[in-house]
Amino acid sequence: MSQIANYSAHAVLKDGTPVQIRALRASDEADMLAAIKRTGPQSLQSRFFILKRHFSEKERAFFMDVDFSTHVALAAWIEERGRPAIVGGGRYVVTNPGEAEMAFVVVDAWQGRGIGSLLLRHLIDIAREQGMRELTAEVLSDNASMRRVFAKSDFRPARSDDPRTVRLTLALGPA
Ligand SMILES: CC(C)(COP(=O)(O)OP(=O)(O)OC[C@H]1O[C@@H](n2cnc3c(N)ncnc32)[C@H](O)[C@@H]1OP(=O)(O)O)[C@@H](O)C(=O)NCCC(=O)NCCS
Repeated sequence: MSQIANYSAHAVLKDGTPVQIRALRASDEADMLAAIKRTGPQSLQSRFFILKRHFSEKERAFFMDVDFSTHVALAAWIEERGRPAIVGGGRYVVTNPGEAEMAFVVVDAWQGRGIGSLLLRHLIDIAREQGMRELTAEVLSDNASMRRVFAKSDFRPARSDDPRTVRLTLALGPA
């Protein structure tokens, strides 16, 4: 397993809240499911492009079975009422050699506070270290906050095959 499996970093949100960004572990499944329960239907639809209420065993296995080489996933943890909770996650999946597709979700109560941007910055650093050349994301055209997060990290629109979405890409040079 790659070194990224032990990735952990601490940061502070603009409002002063401490947050830990760390590699997703198999033992995080219950915390992930708790986070999904706190994510509203609109947010899940923005993430999965369909109205998603249930995740199959196969889907759960895919989300948790991360090898940190072809599939890298980070979770953002914040202490709530004395207990750390997952408040967001971001991942990339390698689609072609050197190219990976990204996706993010932040629980509703914590959206708009910088967590998505933070997760993206950490994933970009990891992707660059891993020798990725290009990151892409397929985003619903009306998803202004996700588009804004990608634009701040210099992603540029490219042609999408799906009329509902915009494809955003970032070419990665050396750090
Ligand atoms: C998209 C998402 C991951 C972003 O995470 P987040 O933690 O809310 O994002 P941040 O707080 O880092 O940044 C959001 C940015 O969008 C801006 N924003 C929010 N609503 C906006 C709107 N309607 N129009 C334009 N910008 C908007 C915010 O001001 C902020 O920009 P700023 O940092 O310049 O102020 C999160 O909102 C989410 O989980 N949404 C549902 C799932 C989803 O859409 N996933 C994407 C699938 S690829």
